[in-house]
Amino acid sequence: MTLTEEIEKRRTFGIISHPDAGKTTLTEKLLLFGGAIQSAGAVKSNKIKMHARSDWMEIEKQRGISVATSVMAFDYKDKKINILDTPGHQDFAEDTYRTLTAVDSVIMVIDCVKGVEMQTEKLMEVCRMRNTPVMCFINKLDREGRDPYDLLDEIEEKLNINVRPLSWPISMGKTFKGVYSLFNKSLHLFQASRSKIEQDGIEIDDINDPQIDEQVGEADAAQLREDVELIEGVYPEFDVNEYLEGKVAPVFFGSAVNNFGVKELLDCFIELAPGPLPRETEERVIHPDEKKFSGFIFKIHANMDPNHRNRIAFVRICAGKFQRGTNYYHVRADKKIRFSNATAFMAQEKELVDEAWPGDIVGLYDTGNLKIGDTLSEGEPGMFKGIPSFSPEIFKEVINKDAMKTKQLEKGLHQLMEEGVAQLFTYELGSRKVVGTVGALQFEVIQHRLKNEYGASCDFMPINLFKACWVDSSDKKKLKEFIDSKMRHIARDKDGKVVFMAESRSWLTMVQDNFPEVSFHLTSEF
Ligand code: G4P
Repeated sequence: MTLTEEIEKRRTFGIISHPDAGKTTLTEKLLLFGGAIQSAGAVKSNKIKMHARSDWMEIEKQRGISVATSVMAFDYKDKKINILDTPGHQDFAEDTYRTLTAVDSVIMVIDCVKGVEMQTEKLMEVCRMRNTPVMCFINKLDREGRDPYDLLDEIEEKLNINVRPLSWPISMGKTFKGVYSLFNKSLHLFQASRSKIEQDGIEIDDINDPQIDEQVGEADAAQLREDVELIEGVYPEFDVNEYLEGKVAPVFFGSAVNNFGVKELLDCFIELAPGPLPRETEERVIHPDEKKFSGFIFKIHANMDPNHRNRIAFVRICAGKFQRGTNYYHVRADKKIRFSNATAFMAQEKELVDEAWPGDIVGLYDTGNLKIGDTLSEGEPGMFKGIPSFSPEIFKEVINKDAMKTKQLEKGLHQLMEEGVAQLFTYELGSRKVVGTVGALQFEVIQHRLKNEYGASCDFMPINLFKACWVDSSDKKKLKEFIDSKMRHIARDKDGKVVFMAESRSWLTMVQDNFPEVSFHLTSEF
């Protein structure tokens, strides 16, 4: 196959949801349809339950599961589908944000009983930053959920995106009959069953077709006709370009656990969702059909075996063909590296790959050369953009507990930060080290891993910080004035960028007012 054909075949996406909405179940059903797994229960939820907070085995298990399910690939019809898994636990949100930089579109799962939940709102903000196309799957229609119109309004309001239903439920909960596909003009009848394979719908060209009455009863058929009329009247006609621009989210209804609505979603997905998209480097836009290989690292996973410090770096291929055993240019380090044991992910099996194409993810074994955000190319120097760090929510100062193991602590912290477990800020004055995370769980993970993998021990002392702000200014003199006057609050991030550590919201506002020439950013890329 030619490069263009390989590109056209690929669909790389992520599934996001608030924990418990049904992400794992939906992923599993998609894999079942793709024939990548044979039985339900094969995909393990990568949730860390809160009660497992101090249970290290749980965390270790989690690490194992998340590497196994990081990328799941399968063939469906004439497409090759790559699903990138995102951690469900909110403490690992930063990991999810980065994974979203490597996808071309997103499926968002919403629980019809609970509606839009907090975690979904946050993840959606990240999608909005990059105009990632989003499809919604409203799940658990076999339960008595909220009114579908209310759910749609809530999505529009809370997630700041227009919606367009492409299917519509016929009743709900105990009396749920199925969905009518507005996209394919077909009727899909619901049968509660965890093992049944979903069938194609019955074609219904005309909504007045008496077949609907026969199948779902007169009352529900009448309600459906009313609903369809209302939808067609209220929502503008679906425009695929608006979806591709991230302006409109098509909405589907179903019940993942009952294999219902999943095939419909998948069929529409392969028809509508974008293939590998162009991506920007510091220098130019790179198109997937360019002959020369390039890609970036969005995730690094430490080896499960603490005796071997090698890690797996996940590379999203952006252009050209990746070939195993080739020397590629590591842009940040300005040197060539040979990757002889690249791994591809097929369902949950890892296997060696000889070649891979734009949209694919390959795993590279790394002994400490690579870090998140790195670019690999065939010689072109620009780094891919769009893998920012976000300001952490919780900050703690690192206190070394064993002076004899200072080196191990430094090395361990450095490597864990490169893996993206947390962010490290080093104060300009006194070299105080502060670790910032999205959630509390990471501190436990860091302490545990420092001890087990590096033999170092540390304490974390809570400190009162509101946000880390990356600062810059077109007026370099003013920037220097600012840095000099706030030196006690200035730190460097892992890349040496200048960060202002703001202690409170009100103080940050005051400082911003006092230094109008300086810009304060809550992400490292602006
Ligand atoms: P997550 O990855 O988004 O966190 O959610 P997950 O798929 O693990 O699903 C959370 C719970 O919701 C599971 O129940 C799952 O079976 C259930 N679920 C998923 N889809 C549907 C659906 O369409 N209808 C209904 N009624 N439930 C659904 P659990 O009790 O945690 O696990 P299990 O014992 O059912 O496997």
